[in-house]
Formats: sequence, structure tokens, C-alpha cells
Amino acid sequence: MQIIRSLNALRAAVRGWRASGERVALVPTMGALHAGHMALVDAARRRADRVVVSIFVNPTQFGPNEDLAAYPRREASDAALLEAGKVDLLWAPDVAEMYPEGFASTVSVRGISEGLCGAARPGHFDGVATVVAKLLNQVTPDVALFGEKDWQQLAVVRRMVADLDIGVEIAGVPTVREDDGLARSSRNAYLDPEQRLIARALPRALGEAAAAIGRGEAVAAALESAERRLIEAGFVGVDYILLCDAETLVPMRAWAERPARLLVAARLGTTRLIDNLAVPAK
Ligand code: PAF
Repeated sequence: MQIIRSLNALRAAVRGWRASGERVALVPTMGALHAGHMALVDAARRRADRVVVSIFVNPTQFGPNEDLAAYPRREASDAALLEAGKVDLLWAPDVAEMYPEGFASTVSVRGISEGLCGAARPGHFDGVATVVAKLLNQVTPDVALFGEKDWQQLAVVRRMVADLDIGVEIAGVPTVREDDGLARSSRNAYLDPEQRLIARALPRALGEAAAAIGRGEAVAAALESAERRLIEAGFVGVDYILLCDAETLVPMRAWAERPARLLVAARLGTTRLIDNLAVPAK
């Protein structure tokens, strides 16, 4: 696996593959890789001849109260995992390569970025959209893969790619879960053993609410009952639990004839966990 840190070298490598007619996939990450990321890599390998993984801890998607410095950085062990996963190229630019002196542009995806996690993390999705636009322009992949775990991020990226006519397929990859259903996330490492046990309540409450809505129960009652279960289980707060249109993320009061997604963010101690599930169209 090549590890490349300069944009010129990245472009030369991708040009070489293209000259041989090879298809390229990109998996964007911020490192601290786990099984969820490796599922993206596996899906990428099935879809392309060459797989590029980017590791870049993007400062512009961290808010002033979010600890950018504390974000786990372990490039050596990440690189070993990627090597074993048969990744062709690790794109690992530093901040100066990604945002050179004088950098002044921001991609902002209105509407879809503003609710849910966007409400609690102002500016977060501008940072994500901007860096993803740059990564797509840098690597020029045929397909880029994102985890469904971050459903709002996936929806924002899809909207941006459609709006800006970026010629890439965006593929969502189903959430990888622990045996007890908890979605794999770098944030799970912040949970102490007691909190880790309580965290099981999140996928359970979500699953029960999705099933209740699927049975035709009132959406508001199903969401209230899920929120109550989370607080009873030991979560300190529920930032949101909403049924939304799966593509636009507009909240739905009733289950309609179109694909819907149940999305939740809840706090356990100081850790904020998110999850989501499909509620298929009737
Ligand atoms: O999901 C992530 O790890 C990041 O938000 C992404 C897409 C790599 C952009 O920095």
C-alpha cells in the first residue's frame, strides 16, 4: 500500500490507474479505524479495481467546544489494518496540504444540514461538505463510500454531489453493529463499562419504535415511548428522536408512502451517541 501525503503524487497515482482503465473507489475517514470502516473498505473492493482510503482529521468540522486535539490519531495501526484489507493507497495529507495558506471557500448545503445533528453542531456539516468536496476533487473516484450510521452526513453528501454535478456515485454501506446491537463508532471507546451496558438500550428503543410505527401506531406516541425508555435506561438526555423522509430529512408526523428513517441522538454521560434505522415505505 502506498502512503501519499502530497496532492501532486496522489494525482499521478490515480492518473496511472485511469490510463490502464481501472475503476477507483474512495473511502473517506478521519482514522481511528474500526470494523465499520473496514466494512466500507470491503464494499469498496467489490466495486472497484483500486481502493483509496483517506485519513484526515478535518479541523473545520469540529466546533469550538469539541476537542479536536483529543481526537484519536493512530496512523501506524490504521495503516496496518488498511494494508491487511488490501487497500491500494492511503491518502494522508496534513492540514497545510488540505487547507493551504489563503484557503477561503466553504461548501454549505442548506436545509438538510440544519436540523438533527446540525442543530447541535453549528457549522459541522459545512466542514464535512467542504472537505468531502475537496477529497472528491483530489481523488476523482468513480464511487465514494460512506457509512449509513452517519445518515445525515450521507444525505448531505448526496445532496451536495447532485447540486454541484460532481461525477461520482455515492454508496451508503449498512451500519456495522456489536453483538448487542450497538452501532460501531469511535465514540463507543469513551463509554465506561456501566455506560456501555446502558448503551444497548439505544438500538433496542429505536428498533421497537420502528416496529411500532410499522404496525401503524401513532408516530408521536412511538417516539415518546422510545425517549422514555432511553431516560429510564440511564441516558441523561435525548437530543432528538425523529421520523424523517429518508432523502430530504424533513420530519414526518405520520408514516407515509415514501421511505422514512428513524434518527436518534442521545447522551450518556458526556458521550453523544447517534443511530438510525429504516422504516420501509408501506
Ligand atoms: O465520517 C467521517 O469520518 C468524516 O466526517 C468524513 C466523511 C471523513 C469527513 O471528514
